[in-house]
Amino acid sequence: MSNNEKTSIVSGFYKLPIKDRIEFVKKFSDLNEEETQLFTSCLDMDIADRMIENVLGTFELPLGIAVNFLINGKNYLIPMTIEESSVVAAASNAAKIARIKGGFKTESTDPLMIGQIQLLHIDDVADAAQKIINKKKEILNLANEQDKVLLKFGGGAKDLEVRILDSPLGKMIVTHLIVDVRDAMGANAVNTMCEALAPMLEEITGGKVRLKILSNLADKRIVKATAIFDKEKLGGEKVIDAFLESYNLAAIDPYRAATHNKGIMNGIDSLIIATGNDFRAIEAGAHAYAARSGQYSSLSKYYKNENGDLVGELELPMAIGIIGGAGNIHPKAKLCKKILGIKTAKELAEVVVSLGLAQNFAAVYALSTVGIQKGHMSLHAKNIAVMAGASGNLIDKVANQMIKEGKIKLDRAEEILKEIKWFFLQYLQVPAHNNNKLLLAGPYLLF
Ligand code: MEV
Repeated sequence: MSNNEKTSIVSGFYKLPIKDRIEFVKKFSDLNEEETQLFTSCLDMDIADRMIENVLGTFELPLGIAVNFLINGKNYLIPMTIEESSVVAAASNAAKIARIKGGFKTESTDPLMIGQIQLLHIDDVADAAQKIINKKKEILNLANEQDKVLLKFGGGAKDLEVRILDSPLGKMIVTHLIVDVRDAMGANAVNTMCEALAPMLEEITGGKVRLKILSNLADKRIVKATAIFDKEKLGGEKVIDAFLESYNLAAIDPYRAATHNKGIMNGIDSLIIATGNDFRAIEAGAHAYAARSGQYSSLSKYYKNENGDLVGELELPMAIGIIGGAGNIHPKAKLCKKILGIKTAKELAEVVVSLGLAQNFAAVYALSTVGIQKGHMSLHAKNIAVMAGASGNLIDKVANQMIKEGKIKLDRAEEILKEIKWFFLQYLQVPAHNNNKLLLAGPYLLF
């Protein structure tokens, strides 16, 4: 399928059997047979054994697809790896609403990462800091000698910043090395450069280098996504006002901001994991960025535009790569990048932040209107039914009964299951999970 023929809009995707969903993604993303088989395969033990130490096995999480996304005019199907129900559906729904006004628009900085080199035991820190600045050219040259490939692709160490910090142990100098890491996450390149610079900085200043490591507060590698949510589709002005009232609590109160931002990270982490990137790095950077004013606050911003539509903006550091790291080793991470059709780390970062905005909008919209429990109910009830011991078609029966009663509890699921099983054995003398006829058992409709 060529890019102009593709659309990521699908209604009722969740109702399709899994094989038909896979078929849709296969066509959309031009997957071959081998790639298609990967959806239902597990990570090879040899690969797992090379990824971390002391491997015993692998740990599976569901991989879903968020549909309906239009970002900078391009259609995307977005793979999401997450254990929480409703998240994928909520993102898809938000993307559908955002499409009415043209989808998500993004902007981003160059992929600049910061490496920190900490210098201590210096008597005159101001003089030492000046000496570092005077040697900037030599320092950057030495850093760039460490990574010729990065240089070839237009990246490399670009700048230095020198900070003097007060600490309980006295004054220290922290030199920031600013590195353009192009399509990499950049931790390896930056850490190698920082370690190589340590002896030079000790020689220049007469001090002692302690830490030499990248900063996860990647505030020079920022992505911003914006979307307009149509007033009529949302239910009119009153609904938007209710939305803004809810949002404003996150803007002023860290207790709410933490939960609000968690909703953003539901979307962000699930794509970060699906593409084999480091979600801890992204989490650390996001929350540090959320506290940049001195008070922890919302990462997103909402307001009404001149038409009365709701405008949402999300801005945060996005240190992710498409080359190197687990994303180039894990077959499913490679598959997810192919599904996305992304060409650069910048493009992936822009999809990630758009997904975070969609997720946040969906959560706050639900919270300001019907609440989120309704959406969570169905899958949650099924999980409780499984925990109670239901299998096969009994899962839906137990779940539906709990939803009908408005009581989704393990003890109730166990009771319902017991009653159904008792009925089948008593009257039909067959195991309950074999049934697929229309029957009435006590209060339960057993079709
Ligand atoms: C749940 O995973 C996420 C929410 O709590 C986010 C929010 O409250 O905005 C629903």
